[in-house]
Amino acid sequence: MVTPSLLNCDFARIADELEALKQAGTIAVHLDVMDGHFVPNLSYGAPVIKDWRPRTDFPFDTHLMMSDPGRYLDDFIRAGCDVIIFHIEAVPEPVPLLRRIRAAGCHAALALNPPTPVSAIEPFLDELDAVLVMSVMPGFGGQAFEPSVLEKVRTLRAARPELPISIDGGINPTTAAEAVAAGATQLVAGSAVFRNDGNYAAALAELVQGAR
Ligand code: DX5
Ligand code: ZN
Repeated sequence: MVTPSLLNCDFARIADELEALKQAGTIAVHLDVMDGHFVPNLSYGAPVIKDWRPRTDFPFDTHLMMSDPGRYLDDFIRAGCDVIIFHIEAVPEPVPLLRRIRAAGCHAALALNPPTPVSAIEPFLDELDAVLVMSVMPGFGGQAFEPSVLEKVRTLRAARPELPISIDGGINPTTAAEAVAAGATQLVAGSAVFRNDGNYAAALAELVQGAR
């Protein structure tokens, strides 16, 4: 499954963008929240997501690139996020937060940056609905895919055959194929979808084709 990251969309036309993604066959969207501290960039937060919520029935996969996600968790839950992903580098003891997310009826996931080994999240796999393997250092769209992370996808897939594994960053038709071959089940794609010609259906089809 390809999940568009909205980071490169036209935020001034969000309702149109969401509708265009729906017409193109998208079934969920990936929301990148950046705090200017955990990552060297700012994006948007819960008040913005709350205003998008009534505009679409897409599940919101919310990727919190934040130093202190627990502090704002209730805001994201109230805003209508469906999957809440936070970073093991930000919260090395993640179990209480994972449990709060699940207790609120959301799905809980941990993300790991390219240098972070699978062993950092291994003790917590039973608490997770999914893992997000970053294939770029988070903070910006449009970066090059780091192939070394494929080994982590293979390790996770072997350890947990049923666990949904997302990969995020630098996905194009070639890297989509590599990620799926390694065991990824969800491909997060920003710049490969929001390309200049505005033909999202063609962009998604190329990614899916690549992933076959
Ligand atoms: C990176 C974000 C990604 C990113 C993906 O910080 O977490 O979701 O926007 O964008 P592309 O596909 O352009 O790498
Ligand atoms: Zn992301």
